[in-house]
Amino acid sequence: MSLTEEVARRRTFAIISHPDAGKTTLTEKLLLFAGAIQIAGSVKARKASRHAASDWMEIEKQRGISVASSVMQMEYRDCVINLLDTPGHQDFSEDTYRVLTAVDAALMVIDAANGVEPQTIRLLQVCRARNTPIITFINKLDREVREPLDLLSEIEGHLGMDAIPFSWPVGMGRHFGGVFDLRHDRMRVFRPGSERHRDDDETIEGLDNPELAARFGDAHAKAAEEIELITGAMPAFDPEAFLAGRQTPVFFGSAINNFGVREVLDALVELAPAPGPRAALERSVLPAEPKFTGVVFKVQANMDPAHRDRVAFVRVSSGKFERGMRLKVARNGKEIRPNNVVSFLSQRREIVEEAYAGDIIGIPNHGILQLGDVLTEGESLTFTGLPFFAPELFQAVEVKDPLRTKQLRTGLTQLGEEGAIQVFRPEAAGGALLLGAVGQLQFEVVAHRLKTEYGVDARLMPSRYSLARWITSPDPKALKKFMDANAANIAHDVVDAVAFLASSPAQLRVAQERYPDIEFHTMREHA
Ligand code: G4P
Repeated sequence: MSLTEEVARRRTFAIISHPDAGKTTLTEKLLLFAGAIQIAGSVKARKASRHAASDWMEIEKQRGISVASSVMQMEYRDCVINLLDTPGHQDFSEDTYRVLTAVDAALMVIDAANGVEPQTIRLLQVCRARNTPIITFINKLDREVREPLDLLSEIEGHLGMDAIPFSWPVGMGRHFGGVFDLRHDRMRVFRPGSERHRDDDETIEGLDNPELAARFGDAHAKAAEEIELITGAMPAFDPEAFLAGRQTPVFFGSAINNFGVREVLDALVELAPAPGPRAALERSVLPAEPKFTGVVFKVQANMDPAHRDRVAFVRVSSGKFERGMRLKVARNGKEIRPNNVVSFLSQRREIVEEAYAGDIIGIPNHGILQLGDVLTEGESLTFTGLPFFAPELFQAVEVKDPLRTKQLRTGLTQLGEEGAIQVFRPEAAGGALLLGAVGQLQFEVVAHRLKTEYGVDARLMPSRYSLARWITSPDPKALKKFMDANAANIAHDVVDAVAFLASSPAQLRVAQERYPDIEFHTMREHA
């Protein structure tokens, strides 16, 4: 198969939802329908991660699972589908944002009883900012849930895009009869249970088929009325509007009952885009270019804490990856020759022989690869768009045993490079290191990992800062002047980017007014 053909059959997407909407369940079912081996256990095991720090840590101990199940690859109808999981817990939303930079589409799971929930809204904003096409799955129709028309208008309200139903539910809860496939004018009849597989659903042709009225009575009459209403009022599905993030196709189903899952897979294959060009500062990189390029969008500590291995997750942007090929880290020109690169085919961590644009490969390393790193066959390239967000919570960190200061620094540097937390080194001499987070749980996890992985008992203390802004200026002199005048509030992050730390919004406002030459950024893109 040619490079162009390999690219054309790739689909890379992330699955996003508010906790409990059914993301884990749907993931399992997608794998099942794509014929991947039974993996129910390992996907399910990750679920605990959303509840409490202790659960999360317990799970993280079994890193083998979480590394492997955060990326899954499967084949369906001649397509290679890469599915990227996102952390359910909102305290790890930064991680999620970065995962979203590595995909070409997103699958949004909504609990039909709850509609669009806060965590989903935030994730959607990130998708919207990047114009990521979104496919919507409304789950749990086997329960008493909200009216489908209300759900659609809620989605439209929150997403600011048209929700175009591809299927429509007939009844719900105890009276859930199935979904009507609007594109093929046939009903797929619901049968509860999760034993069924792929092709044994009953279907009935035609909305006006008397058999439907006879079997589903009121539920059918109501659905037929609603379908007439929406087909009259909704714009037609427009693939271009979908690809531009202006329309989302909507499917109804019940993941736990394997119902509506196949339609989602079909939509991914038929509607979701193959990998496209990626913007680098220097030029636009095309997926079928012969030379390999890729970006590290996630770094995760490996299973064995004693060895401090990490796995860098690389999204292939162009060319073909082959095992043992020589690659250059664009940031510092260092060469690597990854041999034991892992793929994530059906949950088994397998050695990759080759990978194409859209695929994710895991490169084990000892710290040579950082978040945002670009790998090439020699070209110097900087990809844009891997975001770091200004932290909203701060704590100062000290080590209880001063003899372990070095270990603390090593640990924090590595955890910072992994993106587990942001680490700020104050400009002023003698200042304690500062940790910045988006969610409280990040602090707990970092303290736990410092102890277990680096043997450091860290003391976390309240900090007087409450916000941070990265600062730049077109005029280096103005920047220097600002830094000198505000030395007590200046800090450097792990890549030495300069930040201004403030104890209140008022303090930030004053600085902004006084120094119009300085730009204050809430987001930094790795560059
Ligand atoms: P998440 O990853 O988005 O957090 O959700 P997850 O799949 O874990 O599902 C959350 C709960 O919703 C689970 O129940 C799951 O069984 C249930 N669920 C998922 N899909 C459906 C569906 O189509 N219909 C119904 N009725 N329930 C569904 P739980 O009680 O929290 O866990 P468990 O005891 O089932 O493991």
